[in-house]
Amino acid sequence: MSGSVTVECMRPAQRQPPLPDAVPHARATAQAGHSAAAPAISIRDLVVIRGKRTVLPGLTLDVPRGQVVGLLGPSGGGKTTLLRGIVGVQIIHSGTIEVLGRPAGSADLRRKVGYMTQAPSVYGDLTVWENLQYFGALADCGARRIAAVLEQVDLVDHAADQVANLSGGQRSRVSLAVALLPAPELLVLDEPTVGLDPLLRRSLWELFARLAGEGVTLLVSSHVMDEAARCDRLVLLSAGRILADDSPAGLEAATGTTSAEAAFLALESAAR
Ligand SMILES: Nc1ncnc2c1ncn2[C@@H]1O[C@H](COP(=O)(O)OP(=O)(O)O)[C@@H](O)[C@H]1O
Ligand SMILES: [Mg+2]
Repeated sequence: MSGSVTVECMRPAQRQPPLPDAVPHARATAQAGHSAAAPAISIRDLVVIRGKRTVLPGLTLDVPRGQVVGLLGPSGGGKTTLLRGIVGVQIIHSGTIEVLGRPAGSADLRRKVGYMTQAPSVYGDLTVWENLQYFGALADCGARRIAAVLEQVDLVDHAADQVANLSGGQRSRVSLAVALLPAPELLVLDEPTVGLDPLLRRSLWELFARLAGEGVTLLVSSHVMDEAARCDRLVLLSAGRILADDSPAGLEAATGTTSAEAAFLALESAAR
């Protein structure tokens, strides 16, 4: 572990009871305060217009808690726009987005929702550790938590490396580490496995499944259909419309196919 620097900037009024680093997500379930059946995300009739284009023409979706939900579909289909809406950084034209029982973007959701943007949003001129120290200060996380998260994303050996000198896959894992830092109840990850080799991809999907097992909800976008098998549930999005919202097995049964890709193609041609 890199030194003993502990970033402590949490104001006493906001202090929450400490939880052991080994089970940081226990607080997600302990403090959720909602019924287990209430969806983590509830979207109704969402319309988003970007420029002159209606990107989401009226989308309704519930994302259940404690699952890994894959948001799959071709580039340009509206995945990033939808995820931006969920984390509250996208202007919406109409409709509603509720996250953990609150309107998307509410101030009290900031610590409960982790967002990994599609393009890594970390500082190239800082080291991995310095980036996490910086973002850790914003999320009231100290060195122990930073070290634990670095291990989760398999970057312990790169803690002292400057981010600008990392590979694309390593940089995106720094971004993922930042999203994980506050041990959020909901993780919104925009194409987190792009550019990773098969081994790393597998280890990240294993991490996602572990987090879901601890009660975290994960909404993970990908344009790679073979990632579908790793998800508990799949939402297929094409041209701003949901073609399917089902378990991988349910989707294959409903379309008479044996892969998410074949199911997607069958649904696409049926929708035309
Ligand atoms: N900043 C923007 N201004 C206007 N249109 C945009 C902007 N960003 C994305 N779009 C459009 O929104 C649509 C959906 O894009 P996006 O949500 O990024 O899809 P995906 O993440 O599935 O690739 C695309 O047609 C894209 O051209
Ligand atoms: Mg995108």
